[in-house]
Amino acid sequence: MSTPTRSPWQKQAPPPPTVSGGAPLVGHALEFMRDPHQVIRRGYAEHGPVFSVDLGRKKAVFLVGPEYHKFFFRETDRIFSIRQGYETLMKMFDKGMLFFAHLTEYQEQMKVIMPLFQNNDRFTGLMVEEVDDFMENVLGEQGEIDVTEAFGPLVMHVAARAFFGEEFRRKLGAEYFDVFRSFALGADVVLPSWLPLPKFRRSVEAKHRIESMIYDLIQERRRHPLEPKDLFQEFIESTYYGGKPLPERLVVSILLFIPWAGHETTVGHTGWTLIELLRHEDYLARVQAELSEVLGEAQLYSSGNLKKLKTLDWAIKETERMHPAAHMYMRGVRDDFDIDGYQVAEGSMVFVVPEVAHRLPEVFEDPDRYDPLRFAPDRAEDATAYSLIGFGGGVHRCAGVNFAKLEMKIIMAKLLQNYDITLLDKNPKPKPGTQTKWPESPCRIRYLRR
Ligand code: HEM
Repeated sequence: MSTPTRSPWQKQAPPPPTVSGGAPLVGHALEFMRDPHQVIRRGYAEHGPVFSVDLGRKKAVFLVGPEYHKFFFRETDRIFSIRQGYETLMKMFDKGMLFFAHLTEYQEQMKVIMPLFQNNDRFTGLMVEEVDDFMENVLGEQGEIDVTEAFGPLVMHVAARAFFGEEFRRKLGAEYFDVFRSFALGADVVLPSWLPLPKFRRSVEAKHRIESMIYDLIQERRRHPLEPKDLFQEFIESTYYGGKPLPERLVVSILLFIPWAGHETTVGHTGWTLIELLRHEDYLARVQAELSEVLGEAQLYSSGNLKKLKTLDWAIKETERMHPAAHMYMRGVRDDFDIDGYQVAEGSMVFVVPEVAHRLPEVFEDPDRYDPLRFAPDRAEDATAYSLIGFGGGVHRCAGVNFAKLEMKIIMAKLLQNYDITLLDKNPKPKPGTQTKWPESPCRIRYLRR
């Protein structure tokens, strides 16, 4: 990869080559909305790691491969703007929040948020209890469920409990999940949110309802602070800029965003992890053996024991590689730049696409094969920086990665230790189009308690 700087009198480099196909006026937009990865794979096959796709409104440039990902993540908040990348989400969230805010404000907010997520011990117990509750009250002794439909409420209940506290989860958990679903349907990475579509209108109404639930909880907790403090209590008492109280408006918008950022992604990743394990019995047997050895009959879910589940870790990583739930990252281009002899103009969009990059044979051996042991220390196929990027990279790498991995591990370990499970739909497909790539229903399993 080369990124030369050119002196002003040198001739301007050409723009990146455009993928074949496309129609007058709409370019590749329709095909892209139907199956983005097909267009991107074609672009890579035709032109290599740098090429463009005509999405109508803006020039979209794709960068494929570890070196290019490094450039993309390193230049975020410099040549690239994450805020401009996700402009279509602006209507759902507050403009002054996290990466939508200006850089200094974002950095101050992250100083408050990151410590809340650093101590995994505070989440282990509540996650175990939520999965126990799920087994007791949703699964029972035996039956059939659709993986995506069942994991949706489970993941949301974990989030409600972790971020808003036990009482909120108990009293408002079910309502929160329902409104949250309408809110989440407002997310669209292609269509502008000002279009008068019913899904956008319903999303805005749901947003107001969730905001008022969070405001009520803040008032309640200010009147009756919880001791010992949970995450919510700590968060509303936080200060930033060296002592200023965190404005309530900000608390509300961050707590609207965080469960959203972690919902479809965690549901999808957990669903695919289970599906792939059930499709690969040999590897499943290894995971089962490790679970018995480490957790034992008594099922001791301490943080220390969970860390020892390496075989399960590799299964979760292999799912990240083959089925990255967040499958496409976007940035707006703030300044013209040159790359590999092409010039990309200010105002374009730049994309990185883990779904395609994780299947490059020059990076991962036999990439279409499910093979979690590729991540064992003797092979370490993800040793090249920015080769495995299912949780992003650089400054904006997923803030909830440890939370999500812990949750997925606990769900997997509990289900596999307590049930014999068969996959009924043998070959579930990912959701079509540009939405989060969770397994599309039907993706049913049958289970029987051991
Ligand atoms: C399997 C589950 C998850 C996946 C695959 C995932 C993936 C990602 C990715 C790829 C990004 C960066 C996007 C970009 O660079 O454009 C991101 C950012 C983020 N994620 Fe996650 N995420 C997951 C779960 C969670 C959870 C559970 C939380 C919260 C507890 C969370 C909170 C965040 C936040 C706050 C950001 C923005 C970070 C920043 O701008 O600095 N995520 N996530």
